[in-house]
Amino acid sequence: MRRKIVAGNWKMNTSVAEGELLVDQITFLSKDFDPNVEVIIAPPFTHLSRIADVLKSKKSKIALAAQNCAYMESGAYTGEVSVDMLKELSCKYVILGHSERREYFGESSETLLKKINLVLNAGMKPIFCVGEKLEERESKQHFEVVAAQIKEVLYKLRGVEFANVVVAYEPVWAIGTGKTATSDQAEEMHAFIRRAIANKFPLYAEDTVILYGGSCKPSNAKELFSKDDVDGGLIGGAALVAQDFAAIIKSFD
Ligand code: PGA
Repeated sequence: MRRKIVAGNWKMNTSVAEGELLVDQITFLSKDFDPNVEVIIAPPFTHLSRIADVLKSKKSKIALAAQNCAYMESGAYTGEVSVDMLKELSCKYVILGHSERREYFGESSETLLKKINLVLNAGMKPIFCVGEKLEERESKQHFEVVAAQIKEVLYKLRGVEFANVVVAYEPVWAIGTGKTATSDQAEEMHAFIRRAIANKFPLYAEDTVILYGGSCKPSNAKELFSKDDVDGGLIGGAALVAQDFAAIIKSFD
């Protein structure tokens, strides 16, 4: 059976103290979590050290993710954070290719390929985001766009490397807008992504975890997660409210 994952992407939100409080609340609520659902949180870089300590002190199984990493290994790159630094802070995952990074920071597939290789070589797992913009869906180019995002990066990996990748489908028009993809729209794209993966990595497609992201909340998570190819969620806004995040984690059948 495929793994189930719910990951919380905090984006550029919370102070360290607020983040600590949020983790306290989530770990408290985690008593009722299904042990078969892997829970991941991705706080800002500045919080990782402190939150890693909190999780360790509570012997929590919640895994830590970074929201980004540098595309170079080390050296004179002012303001960047390397994969080795993230690994040292106990990060198990790194979110890559989020639409906000693609859009506001000009991240191209070329850059993302460098990043994904560094993350994999460091022994961490990428959560690789794909998704179309509103105008691309309206002009019925959404499959083409997502296929290109997959081909330009994931197809360049070897199968054994790809086995460590988690994919997240996040339609850009649904992120932070309150407008969720319907469960049928999500399933249609998730099944398409799995087929695209099967074309290149037939051995791994069935086990690939594909998360849905974009205004996923307690009221729609159950319906989304009930779909065959939706293996969990990448949660933005609702991950900042412990009760909502917990409710989403408990939304699997
Ligand atoms: P949202 O964000 O849940 O706030 O729409 C999802 C994401 O960007 O990962």
